[in-house]
Amino acid sequence: MAKPKRRYICTECGGVSSRWQGQCPDCSEWNTLVEEAPETKFTAKHDLSSGGRALAFESLDAPTKPLDRRSTGLAEFDRALGGGLVPGCAILMGGEPGIGKSTLLLQAAAAIAKADGDVVYVSGEEATGQVRMRAKRLGLADAPLKLAAATSVRDILTTLGKGTPPDLLVVDSIQTMHSDMIDGAPGTVSQVRASAFELIRYAKETGTCLVLVGHVTKDGNIAGPRVLEHMVDAVMSFEGERSHQYRILRSLKNRFGAVDEIGVFAMEGHGLAEVSNPSSLFLSGREEPIAGSAVFPAMEGTRPVLVEIQALIVRLQSGATPRRAVVGWDSGRLAMLLAVLESRCGLSFSTAEVYLNVAGGYRLSDPAADLAVAAALVSALADKPLAADTIWLGEVSLSGEVRPVAHSSLRLREAAKLGFKSASGPVDGGQEVKKLRYTDVGGVASLVDRVMATA
Ligand code: TYD
Ligand code: MG
Repeated sequence: MAKPKRRYICTECGGVSSRWQGQCPDCSEWNTLVEEAPETKFTAKHDLSSGGRALAFESLDAPTKPLDRRSTGLAEFDRALGGGLVPGCAILMGGEPGIGKSTLLLQAAAAIAKADGDVVYVSGEEATGQVRMRAKRLGLADAPLKLAAATSVRDILTTLGKGTPPDLLVVDSIQTMHSDMIDGAPGTVSQVRASAFELIRYAKETGTCLVLVGHVTKDGNIAGPRVLEHMVDAVMSFEGERSHQYRILRSLKNRFGAVDEIGVFAMEGHGLAEVSNPSSLFLSGREEPIAGSAVFPAMEGTRPVLVEIQALIVRLQSGATPRRAVVGWDSGRLAMLLAVLESRCGLSFSTAEVYLNVAGGYRLSDPAADLAVAAALVSALADKPLAADTIWLGEVSLSGEVRPVAHSSLRLREAAKLGFKSASGPVDGGQEVKKLRYTDVGGVASLVDRVMATA
């Protein structure tokens, strides 16, 4: 029989090569090619069509127990998880360094421990003294959780195997964990995967809820193999601007709940505070109406969040090239809106510097914000403040029409709840909402008249 051909498979993309190379020719990742187990005489002769156990099929409507969820003690965390922690679930918590992952998990772990949960917190990044100091700062030093600094998965599982399994196991972070079954330094793809595999297996077997902290790379992916995201039940991402207070906990994948729920927190001196009314966070400090400021009802998952859009226009005397600077919005979209305003309304921005900012460090990507941005720009250009109790929503097309947006009734209701009196938006985009007057702006051409009329 001819010698079986060797094959090398990339662990990142699944690409196949006939010889080993340092870099995968398909996805250009380094050190990801591994040799596939060669075909033996036995496997060549037998296929998988016999010799197994027969499966018992079930129907979809067979009765099942409702999930027994445990609260994390933080309502916003529970909300993002879809109602709390499920026994035996494995959660990956991603986020940039310093965003507050350890703080959030310490707060949740302490709250669960105080509510009679058995919690083990393993820190691979910080010494126990550091974690204790943080707990003291958070006012949680008296929480009866079990703390350890360790990086060896074998040590962790040996210790846990001796007693009753805990309700919650936090491992901060998976990139510091090391499995001695595999060569390589902690943080390498194979180490991360092997360590996560062992910890997840422990969670599934014992019903312990496992939370793994994962670092993110520069491009926002969780460092380590993609496969880590497939192995866990839920992937949460903790986001925010480090220079700003607010943090958003988003679920990117959740086998036990919806993925469009978010939790909002503010980082304060004593840890993360829950923000049950996010709009108040982004609208604070708006007393006097100022030219160039418009309020837009953004959506975060299924939750409306009112944010303020600020525009500043500075006329240039010299013929220097004017700057356009955008924070929190897409600069390409700003250029498009400026072009639409120039060509459809006859406004001129060509000799003016345009600055656009979304207040509070919030990031908008929703095209529904177009109208609010346009209103802020026109208001700044005309130096006329918009009515402070009005919100703006609508997508602006290249022809200058204003288009309806998704979830408009949710957005309008939130605005009414916060005391806004009127909303401006597309024709037939308005829903009946109590105590909120809805006005069609028509197209952007009539926007200028509207802005001039408000005072
Ligand atoms: P941390 O939880 O260590 O972040 P991560 O684990 O995601 O790397 O949080 C670090 C930042 O949070 C740190 O820069 C200081 C800030 N912080 C506060 O502002 N208030 C607090 O009470 C705590 C504990 C941290
Ligand atoms: Mg940390």
